[in-house]
Amino acid sequence: MIRMEGLLLYRNGKTILRDVSWEVKDGEHWAILGLNGSGKTTLLKVINGYLWPNEGSVQVLGETFGKTDIREIRKSIGWVSAAMVEEFDRRDPAIEVVLSGKYGAIRLFESVTEEEIAEGVRMMMRFGISHLANSAFEYLSQGERQRVQIARAMMAKPKLLILDEPCTGLDLVEREHLLNTIRELAEEGNVTILYVTHHVEEVLPCFTHTLLMRDGQVFAQGESTLLLNEDTLSSFFNHDIAVRLEKGRAWVAVK
Ligand SMILES: Nc1ncnc2c1ncn2[C@@H]1O[C@H](COP(=O)(O)OP(=O)(O)OP(=O)(O)O)[C@@H](O)[C@H]1O
Ligand SMILES: [Mg+2]
Repeated sequence: MIRMEGLLLYRNGKTILRDVSWEVKDGEHWAILGLNGSGKTTLLKVINGYLWPNEGSVQVLGETFGKTDIREIRKSIGWVSAAMVEEFDRRDPAIEVVLSGKYGAIRLFESVTEEEIAEGVRMMMRFGISHLANSAFEYLSQGERQRVQIARAMMAKPKLLILDEPCTGLDLVEREHLLNTIRELAEEGNVTILYVTHHVEEVLPCFTHTLLMRDGQVFAQGESTLLLNEDTLSSFFNHDIAVRLEKGRAWVAVK
């Protein structure tokens, strides 16, 4: 799905990513964990071809960047981030935001058929938001907006789904609901998920692998169960960390 070798990326005199080598295989789902400013979003932008590394090679979905039309690859990548919310027209009904995903556009410029609308509603049903189809995006709660965005991304039937901090701003209960939806998506197995977060407890058991990013570098990577322990996380966060395992998730506290 993804192969990167020796990635180096600097902008405006700052090295943002350094020596990043990483491989994501079909059938794996990855959590990308790191503190603010560790380079997570930058790494995602490289995968999407929005940023070009200064050194190193990038292959996504079998295509080598620099030798292929990135716009074609992007059609197979679903991207969900809180920052993107700003780009939607807030007055658009949720169904239109969802349908725009089919065309890889931010707004729905095409006229759509009854069948396409039905497809959009089915997708919204899948994510428990079909009752909001005609509500303006601006009136939706943060959790509802995240679901609309995921439904929008899935309209294009992506091979890779990138979720950049999808639980930001959600309350405890809503966060668990959304995580449950994401788990179902991962278990269906039709799409490879990259899930970015600051929060260790959001690393669900279905995220088979974890990439720990620190200061633009890979601190560690591998099977989640081997990484999310007190030793590794204490040195990762540079603090004494206590880990409590519950339902296959690691809940952490600073000692
Ligand atoms: N164009 C740029 N020029 C200079 N510095 C940049 C540029 N883009 C990003 N950075 C810096 O690179 C670092 C990594 O940014 P990035 O957004 O990838 O972090 P992140 O891990 O996603 O953080 P967060 O968890 O807060 O979203 C930050 O320190 C940021 O200020
Ligand atoms: Mg970020």
